[in-house]
Formats: sequence, C-alpha cells, structure tokens
Amino acid sequence: MNKAIEAALFLHLLGVAVWIGGMVFAHFCLRPALGDLAPQLRLPLWESVFARFFNWVAAAVIVILLTGGFLLVEFGGAHAAWPLHAMAGLGIVMMLIFGHIRFAVFPRIRRAVQAQNWPDGARAVGTVRRLVVINLVLGVVTIGTAVLSRGI
Ligand code: HEM
Repeated sequence: MNKAIEAALFLHLLGVAVWIGGMVFAHFCLRPALGDLAPQLRLPLWESVFARFFNWVAAAVIVILLTGGFLLVEFGGAHAAWPLHAMAGLGIVMMLIFGHIRFAVFPRIRRAVQAQNWPDGARAVGTVRRLVVINLVLGVVTIGTAVLSRGI
C-alpha cells in the first residue's frame, strides 16, 4: 500500500470516528442525561451543542468525501469491488440526511429557541434524534460493508 493511500485511509477513518463517535455520544450519553431538564434549559443547550457538533460533522463529511473519492479511484474506480460502491452510496445517503438535519431541521431549533417556542423546539430536536438514529444504523452498516470489501 503506498503512502498516499495510507494517509487517505487514516484521514478517512478519522472522519468516520468523529462522525459516528459524536452521534453515539449525543444519542446514548447526552440525550438521556438531559432528559429530565426543563425545556427552557434543555433546548438552548441542544442548540449550542448542535451548533458545535455540526461544524465537526461538516468537516468530517468533507474529509470522508475527498479521501473516499481518492481511495475509490485508487481501488479501481468503476471496477472497484461492489462493497466499495455500496459504501460510497450509503455514505452519500448519510451525507444527504446530515445536510437535511443541518440546513432544514437545525434552523427550526434556532428559531424556536429565539422565540422561546418550546413545543416547536422539542419537536425539531425529536426529528434530529430520529434522523441521527437512521444515520447511526447506516453508519454501522457502512462500516460492515467496508470490512466486507476486504474479503472480495
Ligand atoms: C462518499 C463516501 C465514501 C467513499 C467513496 C468511500 C470509499 C472508501 C474506499 C475506496 C476505502 C478503501 C477500502 C480498502 O481499504 O479496502 C474506504 C475505507 C473505509 N471506509 Fe469508506 N467511503 C465512503 C464513506 C464512508 C463512510 C460514511 C464510512 C463509515 C460510516 C466509511 C467507512 C470506511 C471504513 C471503516 C474503511 C476501512 C475499510 C478497510 O480498510 O478495511 N466510508 N472507503
């Protein structure tokens, strides 16, 4: 394996670790811990957490896309093993879902917090939660697909 491929794989996996690890922490640790807080405290906190986390995810998405594209070309492009194409497809679906969270749902949370409209804010946070669960499942399947590509 040449150095460029090693470096790309390293950055690719770093991006995956930040994205998937952040979702695991938010969903399984932060969410249950904040469950008992009043919406007046909980929703501004989520807004502030999401504002920071989504910047990290955006950076991870750019890194994953660039390194993944490079690796795909290096591993044969259109002739690469099918699990690599599956990874690219699943990865792009995950990125579209993230784009929807960041650019459609997150602004609703912002507006609700500014207007102190807690029911709307809670609904939007619930939507993020459901979409994050979907992305977590897709992420785990994608990692499984990546490992599968080794045996082909
Ligand atoms: C546009 C999206 C993506 C493309 C084009 C892409 C492409 C690639 C390629 C070509 C490799 C090298 C495979 C190898 O070393 O045998 C790779 C490795 C890997 N990718 Fe992706 N990937 C993408 C997104 C993702 C996502 C979203 C995840 C996880 C959620 C992921 C997880 C992995 C893992 C775990 C490896 C290491 C596999 C191994 O070396 O055995 N990838 N990716």
